[in-house]
Amino acid sequence: MTTTTAGPTVPALLRAIADTGRDRTRGGYSRHLFSDAEMDLREWFLAEATARGLETEIDRNANLWAWWRPGGAAAQERAIVTGSHLDSVPGGGAFDGPLGVVSALATVDLLRAAGLQPRRPLGIVVFAEEEGGRFGVACLGSRLLTGTTTPDAALALTDPDGNTLAESAARVGVDATRFGADPDRLDRIACFVELHVEQGRGLIDLGQPIALASSVLAHGRWHLRFTGEGNHAGATPMDSRHDPLLPAAQTVLAARRAAAAGESLRATVGRLRPHPGGTNVIASAVDLWMDARGPDAPVTQAMVAEIAAAAHEAAAAEGCRVEIREESASGAVHFDLALRDQLHSALTTPAALAGTGATGLPVLATGAGHDAAILGAAPGTRRIPTAMLFVRNPTGVSHSPAEFAEDDDCERGGTALATVLTQLLS
Ligand code: GLV
Ligand code: MN
Ligand code: MN
Repeated sequence: MTTTTAGPTVPALLRAIADTGRDRTRGGYSRHLFSDAEMDLREWFLAEATARGLETEIDRNANLWAWWRPGGAAAQERAIVTGSHLDSVPGGGAFDGPLGVVSALATVDLLRAAGLQPRRPLGIVVFAEEEGGRFGVACLGSRLLTGTTTPDAALALTDPDGNTLAESAARVGVDATRFGADPDRLDRIACFVELHVEQGRGLIDLGQPIALASSVLAHGRWHLRFTGEGNHAGATPMDSRHDPLLPAAQTVLAARRAAAAGESLRATVGRLRPHPGGTNVIASAVDLWMDARGPDAPVTQAMVAEIAAAAHEAAAAEGCRVEIREESASGAVHFDLALRDQLHSALTTPAALAGTGATGLPVLATGAGHDAAILGAAPGTRRIPTAMLFVRNPTGVSHSPAEFAEDDDCERGGTALATVLTQLLS
């Protein structure tokens, strides 16, 4: 990994981190919170920001910040903030998160080259554990910052190897006893704009390179633990088993059925662990994690209740038990309309569209969760207007090594971000 000098393009910045956190088993990248790879990326970000003369800091929730502060009274104005995250899902793509971070760094170069004198501070943020890939709660850094998740709930989290968040944080010099809501920091933010690779096919189908986001589905995660009777695979007749994998499998099917039956519903079992996990062993327990999403929280909860009922019924039929626990839940978020309109106007002038390959600027809903949605829906604090820019992904695939963005589109994204930040900072 190299530290680039000020002035490289978005693709050049992505290439600088292309070898960090590659997952040789799964393919793609595994950059989990506080892992060696993620710590290297954090250091790299801080070095890149410092090389640009930005002031850097790590907040009480392990989020990274870099500030470009103008002099005089303007330094006291509320800041415009951009950024995203550097952690990944297991075996994820190169763009989900890093594209927004490197675009933010490249934008500082573009704004400086254009001679912009910002009339308020510009902040770049790297949120911690956006994917929940290690401790299970997505957007943990922004949830703690906004008070959406309490420090006690965060400190109770463990990773798949049983390490607590507090221990893992301490190992890398982060003091988890400082976790907690930071209303003063939020109060210094005028608005937040996150650029992100698109995670679906919207822009491919429309033949456009860039879009604005309209909304994010309600979503959450549930843990189901099925317990039965561990036994011998050969010596136990088929009619005397209490195999918890059976109700787990039926729950996977029930999730598919329930989500397929409604509009904008999703239910996914992406992680399932039989215990003790031997080919010739009937499992004694199965842990199953389900991600569920929908147009709003009540509809999502109703779908989860239907799946939970199917899980209980299937468990009883096999002489097993199931316990179900909600790990996190977020309501649907509609991004700030006034900010979206402002960005739309800035990006659709003839000058902004010239040479971009775009004939318009679509507005797309997404099923993916983002820190921008957590900030935009923060409870009990001044609501921060948030917006998102999406960059075309020609595979339409994300959370997979197949996720992609063409260099030209990454540059277009960086230019679009520079255009909107120029307007917001002027
Ligand atoms: C994050 O990318 C999520 O939507 O789970
Ligand atoms: Mn992301
Ligand atoms: Mn993601």
